[in-house]
Amino acid sequence: MRFDELSTPSYIVQEEKIKSNLNILKNVQEKAGCKILLAQKAFSMYRLYPLISEYLSGYTASGLFEAKLAAEEMSKSAENHVFEPAYKPSEMEEILKICDHVYFNSIAQLEKHREAWERYEKEGKVKIALRINPEHSTQVGHEIYDPCGKGSRLGIRRIDFPEELPKGVTGLHFHTLCEQGLEPLKETFAAVEGRFGKYLKQISFINLGGGHHITKDDYDVEGLIAFIKDIKAKYGFEVYLEPGEAIALNAGTLITEVLDVVRTGDYITAIVDASAACHMPDVLEMPYTPPLLDATEDTGFLVRIASRTCLAGDVIGTYVMPRIPEVGDILTFGDMAIYSMVKNNTFNGMALPDIVLEHADGDFELVKRFSYEDFKSRL
Ligand SMILES: Cc1ncc(COP(=O)(O)O)c(C=O)c1O
Repeated sequence: MRFDELSTPSYIVQEEKIKSNLNILKNVQEKAGCKILLAQKAFSMYRLYPLISEYLSGYTASGLFEAKLAAEEMSKSAENHVFEPAYKPSEMEEILKICDHVYFNSIAQLEKHREAWERYEKEGKVKIALRINPEHSTQVGHEIYDPCGKGSRLGIRRIDFPEELPKGVTGLHFHTLCEQGLEPLKETFAAVEGRFGKYLKQISFINLGGGHHITKDDYDVEGLIAFIKDIKAKYGFEVYLEPGEAIALNAGTLITEVLDVVRTGDYITAIVDASAACHMPDVLEMPYTPPLLDATEDTGFLVRIASRTCLAGDVIGTYVMPRIPEVGDILTFGDMAIYSMVKNNTFNGMALPDIVLEHADGDFELVKRFSYEDFKSRL
C-alpha cells in the first residue's frame, strides 16, 4: 500500500527504526555478555516477534496471556519469562508449561505455588526468582510508575526477606526505573548491594528490570556495557534486562484526520478521529504531550488537538502550528508504537486504529484492521 491509501486512525510502525533499536540492544548483549528480553507490556506487535527473536534473547510477560503470545509467536530458542504480582492457581500449570523463568513477588506466593513449580524446577525446566524492592526511588514527578513508593506492593523489602534464600530460588529481580539513564540504575544497584548484598553471590541470575532508555540518543551505552561486565565479574551471575520502550522507542506514529475545526473564544480546536483516552491512554495517565510532527518550533497558531469522544478532557495536546488545520488534513503524532496499541480501548464505541508496518522500501503493509465486531465482542 502507499501512504495515501491508508485509513485513519492508524498506528504505523517503522521496521527500519525497530531494527536500528534492536541493533543497539544486540550490541549491548554481545559486548556485555548479558541477555535482553522484550517486555511485551510495552509493545506486543507479534507480527515482529520473528524479527525481534533474531536480535534479543527472549520475551517477558506480565501474566499468562502475554506469556502465551510469546510462546506462540517467538522463535523456539527464545526465552520466556513471566512476572506477576500474584498468580491465580488455575493459571499456574499453564504458565509453567510455557515459561522457563518464573518470578514471584512475595514469599507467600512462592510457597503457595511451590508444589507446582518444584515439579518443573526439579526437571530443569524452569528457574525461579524473587522480585525484591530496593527501597530506592529515583523517579520524581510520576509516582504512578514508582515501584519504590511508600507502601508499594511491588517487590519484597529487605525487612520481609528471609535470612536464608528459599530453597529452589536461584534468581533475583528488581524493576524500579522508568525512561531513565545509567546513573539511576547504578544508584539502584548500589542500594540492592547495600540491602541484599549477601544474596548476590548465592544466585545464578539477576534481572535488572525495564525502564532503561538504552536506545535514546543520549543514553550512555558504553557505560552500561562496562557496568554489566563489572557486576558479572564481581558476582558471577547471569544478567538480564527487560526493557519495553527501548525496543520500539520512536519507531511508530499515529496518523489521524481532522474532522472539524471549532473556535471557542480565543481557542482553536481541531477535532480528530484519534483519541487520547482510547488510542494513547498514557497521554492522560502519565500525563504527557505527544510530539506532533506537523507542529512548528517557530511562531504560528496555537491549536488544541482533541478527540471526537464525549470526554471533555480528551485533549491530545496544544501545539504551535504553521497554519490552522483544515478539515481533511492528516496529522501525525510521533512515538506511538509503545504503550499505545497494548493499552487502547473502544470507549464511546471508538474504532481501534489499524496497525500498519512500514517497510524500508516504502511499502505500507496493513497488519490488522478492526471492526464493529471487535467492539461488540468485548461487551
Ligand atoms: C516488571 C517490569 N519489567 C519491565 C517493564 C518495562 O519497562 P519499560 O517499557 O519502561 O522499559 C515494566 C514496565 O512497567 C515492568 O513493570
